[in-house]
Amino acid sequence: MSLRSRLFLAFTAIALVPIALLAAFTLDRLARSLELWNTPGVDQSLRTSLEVSKTALTRLESTARAQAADWAQVLPPAPVDLPRRTAVRAGLRAAGLDFVQLYRRDRAGWRRVDDVLPEHVLAPEPLDLSREIDAALAAGGVIHSPRGALAAVAPLEIRDRSGARWALTAGMRVTPDFFTGLTRIGESVDFYHRFGVLRDVSRIYWLLLVAAVVLVLALVALLVATALARAMTQPLQALEQALERVAGGDLETRVAPSGARELRTLGERFNAMTARLAAARTALAEAEREAAWRDVARRLAHEFKNLLTPMTLSLRRLEKRADRVPEADRAAVAESLDAFAQALADLGRLAEQFSQYARLPEPRFERVDLADVVREAARAQAREDVRVAFEPGPGALPIAADRLLLSRAVHNLILNACEASPAGAVVEVRTAAADTMATVEVLDRGSGLAPEVRARLFEPYISTKARGSGLGLSLVRDIASQHGGTAALADREGGGARATLSVPLAGGAKAS
Ligand SMILES: Nc1ncnc2c1ncn2[C@@H]1O[C@H](COP(=O)(O)OP(=O)(O)OP(=O)(O)O)[C@@H](O)[C@H]1O
Ligand SMILES: [Mg+2]
Repeated sequence: MSLRSRLFLAFTAIALVPIALLAAFTLDRLARSLELWNTPGVDQSLRTSLEVSKTALTRLESTARAQAADWAQVLPPAPVDLPRRTAVRAGLRAAGLDFVQLYRRDRAGWRRVDDVLPEHVLAPEPLDLSREIDAALAAGGVIHSPRGALAAVAPLEIRDRSGARWALTAGMRVTPDFFTGLTRIGESVDFYHRFGVLRDVSRIYWLLLVAAVVLVLALVALLVATALARAMTQPLQALEQALERVAGGDLETRVAPSGARELRTLGERFNAMTARLAAARTALAEAEREAAWRDVARRLAHEFKNLLTPMTLSLRRLEKRADRVPEADRAAVAESLDAFAQALADLGRLAEQFSQYARLPEPRFERVDLADVVREAARAQAREDVRVAFEPGPGALPIAADRLLLSRAVHNLILNACEASPAGAVVEVRTAAADTMATVEVLDRGSGLAPEVRARLFEPYISTKARGSGLGLSLVRDIASQHGGTAALADREGGGARATLSVPLAGGAKAS
């Protein structure tokens, strides 16, 4: 599994565990508080008691109805006489009724005419249902009286002589709030039923809310985890790709250091490492090229010398016999021999340059003053028509150097300057100290640097001169680096060139 996936999973787990715990806790609290609202069983007991009351009421009503119908068949439209009254009272007791009443309707409405109680029952406070009879007759014949009675009404079959209507009520006494109590139970059942529905709805509402919050939090956690994992792995990925390119040989590859401090450091180290690798590779290539050039130079010098020796001997022999040439040709022959000798000398110089370049001797260091070395080198005149002016700087310039090698290097610079200068010009040579380095400068007012070779002047065999070997500056640079110094050649302001050779001052001496 990739590092990014691992980090992503780790971050997600770290974020989701607390969210899950929070959700579980919230839902648990929610369930508990909803439970508290709902006292278990209240709903059910209310329902049961309502059922029971309704059943009892129905049974009482049907008993009252049956009794009222029965008694309405047998009782006359008049107050009940004593013998019949005894039978009625016994009957009431057997049927479990509390009263039978007779009502007569005259112009003012119903009026109670008789009230028969069961046997052995003393008269309680009188009960008058006259005002409820009409409504009861119209609506099924049952009275629920708030005065504390449940009764059935039945009209009598026979009327009295005046033709007035008679009715009979039979029923039981109940507590005055019996019916309001029943209604209240009904309302409570209703309320609890509605409340239950409400509770279910609010439970769903809360569940949805918690689910939504958890979802949003989880989504945010996922996004943050993705971003974090990416931020942490991106620099590593860039580094991995850069490493691959380096392995493929591209040493110019660099990464842009980013991310956490450690990752940035890693990036910077990587860049430094590839830079060093590139420099090392360049140096190696240069060394290899130089070694190859030296090899070529050595062979050339060898071949030259092999050819030059017999040629010089032949020339000597010819010179010895020059006076045998007829008078008329003598001058021409002498001229040719001179030219030949000059050409041989040039070739000899070239061969010497080649062999010097091929075998740079190991330097033998001694403590010298740079100004002395330069003065000696400047004295070896290069051209008759160019003056070399040496201006030593103030103070001594002690350096550790091979006098011969260093003087050869300086001489090469002066030679180049003289060769570049027009007739009658002055080549200035100066020495000075700068920081920890002793410097010699060679300045001319010559042609300046040729643009086509400007970048490669210090490479061997780079020359713009007809008879130049192109080894002079290459030698200068080698000698400079043998002494731990540098050599440079640049255009001079106002025309000409400025050659500089710097070597370290000896014993850590510092320019004052
Ligand atoms: N002072 C200078 N002014 C202008 N060009 C210069 C100067 N010194 C060197 N050069 C250029 O640098 C080239 C290389 O110089 P270098 O000394 O290596 O070889 P060379 O002088 O051409 O040959 P050799 O030193 O063997 O005679 C020269 O051919 C010349 O073009
Ligand atoms: Mg030269």
